[in-house]
Amino acid sequence: MQLGLNGQVALVTGGGQGVGRQICIELAAEGARVVVNDLFAERAQAVADEINASGGQAYAAPADITQLEAVDAMVADAARHFGAPITVLVNNAGIIPERREKGGRTPPFVDTPVADWAKIVNLNVYGTLHCCRAVLPGMVGRKTGRIINIISEAGRIGEANMAVYSGAKAAIAGFAKALAREHGRHAVTVNSVALGAVSHEGIKDGPLNIHATVENNELLGKMLNAYPISKGVGRLSRPADVSGIVAFLASDRALFITGQTIGASGGFAMV
Ligand SMILES: NC(=O)c1ccc[n+]([C@@H]2O[C@H](COP(=O)([O-])OP(=O)(O)OC[C@H]3O[C@@H](n4cnc5c(N)ncnc54)[C@H](O)[C@@H]3O)[C@@H](O)[C@H]2O)c1
Repeated sequence: MQLGLNGQVALVTGGGQGVGRQICIELAAEGARVVVNDLFAERAQAVADEINASGGQAYAAPADITQLEAVDAMVADAARHFGAPITVLVNNAGIIPERREKGGRTPPFVDTPVADWAKIVNLNVYGTLHCCRAVLPGMVGRKTGRIINIISEAGRIGEANMAVYSGAKAAIAGFAKALAREHGRHAVTVNSVALGAVSHEGIKDGPLNIHATVENNELLGKMLNAYPISKGVGRLSRPADVSGIVAFLASDRALFITGQTIGASGGFAMV
């Protein structure tokens, strides 16, 4: 699809691996200049190098998005680098790195370490707030802009053993609707994309590992049954099942979509 993103400058948080990486690649393929953010500089640089090597335009912008000043500095640096302001913001970073490394099952709410609550809320909620605050004044002034949040179906229907994460993702969806109402008059759209389980290269073990099959992973077979489309195609979703939706929402084709949460979970939640 030719989405006409030439001239756009897109900031993708947590763009160094997984879903965020593929969003960076797809936005660049559609013509956007991409600011690849990640907590880990080497990840951001690798994705920016990959895009630049294939004829796109990308800039690595490592920063911890839980830190307000770091976000403001990153946004200012990126605008200087490209000589143009950020016109598309994708709030993608949402899983704390230690949790991603550990994998496996998480405990019920009452058994979760209190310190983890702040980490989850800081990354998902405050990270999103910081980035929105940094880019919105420019979007408002130019009377155009796109904000897309990557959330989880856990935020729409709740997920046992992921209570704080579910609440944090729900908070983003509510925040997005309020922003959409505030900034419709500035032609800024704000939407969320809700994911189910996404298998990708950054997940080392378990059913979401890209090499997991129903033969070598018993849990994967059970998970596939929870997703209507997975039953048809025999796999979980992948980053490329998400990135096209984000690119569409970033384009003019989606101008009249705002304040919405779009499920990209193969029918896991139908709300
Ligand atoms: N993978 C899934 O199964 C799944 C399911 C539902 C929703 N999601 C959502 O999709 C999004 C992407 O998921 P993923 O699986 O690609 O995540 P991931 O953890 O594999 O990758 C995210 C990237 O974000 C970076 N990051 C973490 N903290 C950061 C910070 N403070 N500042 C900047 N960057 C930071 C990490 O270094 C990592 O490279 C998240 O919002 C997640 O909640 C994922």
